[in-house]
Amino acid sequence: MGDQVQEIKEKLNIVDVISGYIRLQKAGINHKGLCPFHNEKTPSFMVSPSRQNWHCFGCAEGGDIFTFVQKIEGVEFPEALKILAEKAGVALKYSDPKLRTEKDRIYEICEKATQFFTASLNSAGVILDYIHKRGAREETISEWRLGYAPDSWSSLLSFLIKQGYRETEMEKAGLILRGDRYHDRFRNRLMFPIFDSNGRVVAFSGRIMGDIVPSKTERTDSGKYVNSPETILYNKSKILYGLDKAKTEIRKADGVVLVEGQMDVILPWQDGIKNIVATSGTALTEDHLSILKRLTNNLILAFDVDDAGFRATKRGVDLANEMGFGVSILDISSGKDPADFVKERPGEFAKLVSESQPIMAYYFSRAFGKFSTEKIEGKKFIALTLLSEIKRLPSAVERSGWLRELSLRLGISEGDLKEEMERVEIEKINENVGNRASNISLVPAKTRKEILSERLLALLLKKPEFIAEAVKVAAILPKEDFEILSALAANQSEFSATRAALSADLRPRLDFLYLAGDYEMEKADASFNIGEEVTLLIKEIERERHKESLQKIGQQIKKCEFEEGLDLNQLTEEFQNISNKLYKLDENKK
Ligand code: UTP
Ligand code: MN
Repeated sequence: MGDQVQEIKEKLNIVDVISGYIRLQKAGINHKGLCPFHNEKTPSFMVSPSRQNWHCFGCAEGGDIFTFVQKIEGVEFPEALKILAEKAGVALKYSDPKLRTEKDRIYEICEKATQFFTASLNSAGVILDYIHKRGAREETISEWRLGYAPDSWSSLLSFLIKQGYRETEMEKAGLILRGDRYHDRFRNRLMFPIFDSNGRVVAFSGRIMGDIVPSKTERTDSGKYVNSPETILYNKSKILYGLDKAKTEIRKADGVVLVEGQMDVILPWQDGIKNIVATSGTALTEDHLSILKRLTNNLILAFDVDDAGFRATKRGVDLANEMGFGVSILDISSGKDPADFVKERPGEFAKLVSESQPIMAYYFSRAFGKFSTEKIEGKKFIALTLLSEIKRLPSAVERSGWLRELSLRLGISEGDLKEEMERVEIEKINENVGNRASNISLVPAKTRKEILSERLLALLLKKPEFIAEAVKVAAILPKEDFEILSALAANQSEFSATRAALSADLRPRLDFLYLAGDYEMEKADASFNIGEEVTLLIKEIERERHKESLQKIGQQIKKCEFEEGLDLNQLTEEFQNISNKLYKLDENKK
């Protein structure tokens, strides 16, 4: 197992792995970004490609690629290992086949089912014709692994039985249903596998094909799409269709195009819009938005906003506004959806995206279109509608910008509008957005000495010439730091030699300290003098040490009243000595 962990670490670059989840910028030899584990406005999340570690200096979380994937995916180590092994192309050796959990088997079933559906599509010419007619090309069909569920009650079921899976497992995967007997959930449908953010199939959405292959097994009035139920792999409020393929592009473009359906992702994607995802078969949730927030702050909606169905989405859009996303909207003329638009006007969708307008501008034109400003009533309606939208914006700058616009267009003073805005009631979607601190593990309480020691070592790693000076306080440092400092001194402060000399459990600490040093330098301004800082830290550590001793002796002196065998005179003398040292240190400071 240990070998494989090492092998995976060697094959993957931590920056690539973490970039799959959050937006990183270069910061010297490291990368930094907004921490995905707590809420922050300025980046204190650092990733070191040379050390292959990460640390957030805001919430004190840190580790390697494994701990990162564990935390961000909310999984235990074995699961993180699998995800990363797959990324690295390392085949895991299972020592015991029983170690494959039920979850693994359900992943396998979804994968096998995908293979079954894609193979069925190849022998279903009419269905393929349909997909081609919609505008999808061969490579697109295979990239998105489109398939066909045959018009049969049990074709998938028998296939999976032959592969050695049990009906109860297939049921848990959401693929079969129990009526009088077990039968396939998806029959005579065009199949879209739903991928998780790592590209593994976790569910399916099947489009009705009754008008092409008249169905023996499916009622003609059944829903246009049938979807997998929620399973242990599939939580639809957390999965965004296409995210596995789009995440890098979303970060690059610093924006995500959000659509409603699978076809609306696939066809624009084929047309060159790669930063596109869909909420398939569900409204936009806070979970979706939190996932996107790690990649970008800009949401571009390609929804039919005049549609009654937008009502459900509006909540998500309001939430996005509250979470500080810039939300803009695409103007697709005449109620077409993106899939149809791209088919009719190939190559033009990108232009539409670049011309998207802020959703507030859209709300303005809708409100002003609906009511006349001639009459006072009309003005009142417009004001009320728009004020409740403006009120939702978290940025004061934006709020006042839109208030000014409204004031100009209505001929009402900004002051009056502002007063009115105070009175309008809005349903805050989530009061806690912005301080969702609950999932952060608290910064472990460190003593002052520990903090000083950490900073000292971090800086010494940047400026090894001060190591000799620091050695005089080495013995006072917390044990781990003492060992690291000693190893540095013993190895002429050569990093890899030091690292090799340390016991394995201390190496992550060294790596962390190294990154902490980079972080300090990154934050520092021009006036920062690392030498002075180191000297100061050494002195402070001595002070802390003296204070600790004084406290101890003080306690013993108190005990003298009750206990025999303590030499009060000697204790008092020691106390005086240390007090003097402390005094001298303070004198020097002036
Ligand atoms: P639409 O009805 O707009 O379908 O639903 P569509 O994507 O345009 O499909 P085509 O173009 O006719 O092939 C949008 C999305 O809502 C979900 C699906 O994910 C669909 O892609 N949906 C729709 C369901 O989950 N169930 C339904 O019955 C209908
Ligand atoms: Mn459509």
